[in-house]
Parts: sequence; C-alpha cells; structure tokens
Amino acid sequence: MSEEQGVRLQKVMAAAGVGSRRACEVLIEKGRVSVNGQLVREQGLRVDPETDVVRVDDMRINTGTNRAYLALNKPRGMVTAMQDPEGRPTVGDLVEQRTDRVFHVGRLDAETEGLLLLTNDGELSHRLTHPSYEVPKTYLAEVIGPVARDVGRRLRAGVDLEDGPAKVDDFRLVSSSGNRVMLELVLHDGRKHIVRRLLDSVGHPVERLVRTSVGPVQLGSQRAGKIRALQPPELAALFKMVDM
Ligand code: URA
Repeated sequence: MSEEQGVRLQKVMAAAGVGSRRACEVLIEKGRVSVNGQLVREQGLRVDPETDVVRVDDMRINTGTNRAYLALNKPRGMVTAMQDPEGRPTVGDLVEQRTDRVFHVGRLDAETEGLLLLTNDGELSHRLTHPSYEVPKTYLAEVIGPVARDVGRRLRAGVDLEDGPAKVDDFRLVSSSGNRVMLELVLHDGRKHIVRRLLDSVGHPVERLVRTSVGPVQLGSQRAGKIRALQPPELAALFKMVDM
C-alpha cells in the first residue's frame, strides 16, 4: 500500500480494539506487529484494513470494518438456513436486521443445539468447513444407557457408515443418571448427521445433541438463541487453526 493511500497502522489497530493509538505505537516500536507477514518497525505505515493481514504477537486481528465473526447458541427446532420454505424458525430470522450479511458456517441439524459460527468472511467459512483443515468439534450427546465399556474404543477405531468409514478423535462418558448417559465426542468429520449416525452404529441413538465447541471457540454459558461477537483471542486462534 502506498504512502498516501490506506489508513495508518496504529489507527487500524486501535479501531480493532488492540489498545490506544499510543499503546499500538509502542507495540510497533517493539517489533510485535506484522503486516502481511512482514515485521513492521517504522511508525505511520499505511495499510488497507479490508485486505491487509495484521498480526500482533503472531495473533491475527480483525481489521476489516465490515467483517463480522459471531457465535450463536442455536436452539433446538431452529433450522440452519437463512430462510425456510416451510416457514419454520431459521438462523436467518435472528440476523435479518443486520446489514453485514453474515452466513452460518456449516450446519447443525434442526434438532441439534449449540454452537454455530456466523460470519461474512467467506474464506474463513470455507476453510473451517473444509475437511483438509480437520477442525475439531465437540458434542455432548445424551443416550440411553448403560453404555458398554468398549464403545469408546470402537468409535475411536472407526466404524463403517453407509458413506464410508468414520471415527471420533476423542470420546468419554461424562455422567450417568438413571438410564440416561451423557457422552462427550470430539471429531473433525463434518458429514451430515455424523454424530447421530456414529452413535446409532453402536446401538445408542441420540436423545439430545449439543455442540459445545468449534476449534478454539467454546459455547460456555451462552444462552440459547443468543448471538455474541467472538473475542479477539478466539478469532486469532480460529485464523491460526486454518492457516489464515
Ligand atoms: N452431527 C449430527 O448428527 N448432527 C449435527 O447437527 C452435527 C453433527
């Protein structure tokens, strides 16, 4: 970016929430800031906030003024779509007042609850859903027990589903109460109904399914139907996970 065009780096950093302009100048002075992979030492460099990649301590910051990165706790019964021809409630209903045209990253079944990311950053969305980046997702599944001791081993080793083999990266029994058992599964496979099909295959159809994390982003105590903006460290970790 030339000297005249663009916006001064410290101003862009301050607008992205890194700190005051003076604090940002100090970070630049200390050699903690890079633009498009190049360490910046001099003050006053002009950048394009929409296209240049700015990192502080190797953590990418969101400089795009129109970029939105959101986390929704999708309630049960809501369709992951912007509109539904059958008139059911959709994720689109929750964001229709926004002007930034965010879109859901991948899908959760209508009956699945939990963490769904929304963004208008097409490249990030593409990478998060592309199998080659193997982004791990965590699910809590309620099933009817008892669950035999070898179920975790079988799911880790892999089972054959109708569209090919599938396995979990991690599996644990979280709790059991009466005949209800809560399982936690971590997997990077994003195929349709994958958790339901995996648990069906070992004889434990899912009664309730909640996604609790996507890569470094946790659902936490966010209430159902609520949307929040991702925090800068969460976003930096997401970018890092998919080499952006
Ligand atoms: N696996 C499922 O079976 N359903 C989801 O919504 C997500 C993962």
